[in-house]
Amino acid sequence: MADTETIPRSDLDIFTDEFMADPYPAFRGLRDAGAVVLLDASDVWAVPRYAEARHVLGSWEQFSSADIAFNEQCNAYVGDGILRAAPPLHDRLRNVLASRLAPRALRKLEVDINRRARDIVEPLVARQSFDAISELARRFPLEIVADLIGLPEAGRDQLLELLDANFNCFGPDNARTRESAPKLAELIEYVMTTATREKLTENSMGRAVFEAADAGQIPTESAPWLVMTYVTAGIDTTVHALGHAVWLMSEHPEQWESLRQNRSLIPQAFREVLRYESPIQVFGRTVTADWVVGDVTVPAGERLAVLYGSANRDERRWNDPDRFDIGRDNMEHLAFGYGLHGCAGQALARMEGAAILGALADTVSSIESGEPVRHFNNVLRGLESLPVQVVAA
Ligand code: HEM
Repeated sequence: MADTETIPRSDLDIFTDEFMADPYPAFRGLRDAGAVVLLDASDVWAVPRYAEARHVLGSWEQFSSADIAFNEQCNAYVGDGILRAAPPLHDRLRNVLASRLAPRALRKLEVDINRRARDIVEPLVARQSFDAISELARRFPLEIVADLIGLPEAGRDQLLELLDANFNCFGPDNARTRESAPKLAELIEYVMTTATREKLTENSMGRAVFEAADAGQIPTESAPWLVMTYVTAGIDTTVHALGHAVWLMSEHPEQWESLRQNRSLIPQAFREVLRYESPIQVFGRTVTADWVVGDVTVPAGERLAVLYGSANRDERRWNDPDRFDIGRDNMEHLAFGYGLHGCAGQALARMEGAAILGALADTVSSIESGEPVRHFNNVLRGLESLPVQVVAA
C-alpha cells in the first residue's frame, strides 16, 4: 500500500439522510480527492470517478461481487444468487431468462406495455392533479414485473415495502439496515411461499426458472433465489427512475416540449434521467488482487463502494454533468452497471420508461410539480412523493 499519508481519505458517511438529501456536492469532493478515497466511517474505498468505476465493474475477476452488500448477513442470505455469483454459475443463472429479456423477445410485449401505461396515465391526467409516485411510478413497474414473473395477485400490495427493505439491507450495519431486517425476512417468506412453482402462472418467467432447475440447467436450490432477484431488482429501480423522470420533465419544461415535438428523443431522455439521478447509487465489490490506481495501491481483500451516481456526474467524463440535457450523448451512462453483472432487465426498464413518457407526451402539454419529498434508502435514490398538476394536451 502507498504511504498512508498519500491515501485520499474522507470521514463522509454516504449512508446518512443528510448525505443522501443532496449527495452531488460531496460526490464532487470525493472525485476531486482521488480516483479511490478511503471512507473511514464505513471502512470501504469509494470509487467516485467514471473511468475507475467502469474499470471495476468491467473486471469481475479482480473485483468480486461476493460481498456486494456492505454487511455480512445480507451477503450470506442471498447465497450464490446471480448478483454475487461468478462464472460459471453466474452465467448459468443469467442464461435462464436472457432470451426472454432480450430486446427482440420484448418487442412482442411492447404494444401491451404501452397500453398498460396509457391505462394508468389517462385517468390521472383526466383528474389534472395526482401524486406521481404513489399513483404512477409505484404502480406501473409493480404491475408489469409481477405479471411477467407470474406472481399471484394476493400479497402484491405489500411487496413494495418489502422490496425497499431488501435494498436497505445492502447497506452497512446501520439503523436503516437493522430496522429493515424483519421485512427482509418477510420478503423471503413471501417468495418461498408465494412465488412457488405451483402458484406462479403458466408460461411466466418465474415458471421458466423452476423449469430450468428441473432440466438441470441451474441448481434446484438456486431457483427461488433467482426468482427473488428478478422481483427485487426489477421493481423499485424502475419506480425511482419513473418518479425522477416526471420530476425532471416538470423542472425542464422546454425539454418536455422538445420531447413532445420529437418522440425519437424518448429513449435518450430516459437515459438522461438515469444518468442524472441514478436509481442504484452504490454497490460493493471486493478487490481480489492488489489494485494500483495512480500512486495508491488498494490491497487484495479491501472492500470498494462503486458510486454509480457519482460516476454519472463525473466532469472528467461528461460536459457540464450537473445539467439535465435530454439531447446529450448519454449512451455510456453507468446506471445499469457494466460488464458481467450489467443489468439483466435493462431492455424491459427502457421499454417501461418509454411507455410512460410516451403516454404522458400524448396526453399532457405541461407538468408542474410541487415540492418533492425524498425517499431515503441505503443504496437507492428516489422520491417518496411528488404532487403534480398537468395540463391536458
Ligand atoms: C431503471 C431500472 C433499473 C436500474 C437502474 C437497474 C440497475 C441495475 C444495476 C446497476 C445492476 C448491476 C449491479 C452490479 O453492478 O452488481 C443491475 C443488475 C440486475 N438487474 Fe437491473 N436495473 C433496473 C431494472 C431492472 C429490471 C426491470 C429487471 C428485471 C425484470 C432487472 C434485473 C436485474 C438483474 C437480474 C440484475 C443482476 C444481473 C447480474 O448479476 O448478472 N433490473 N440492475
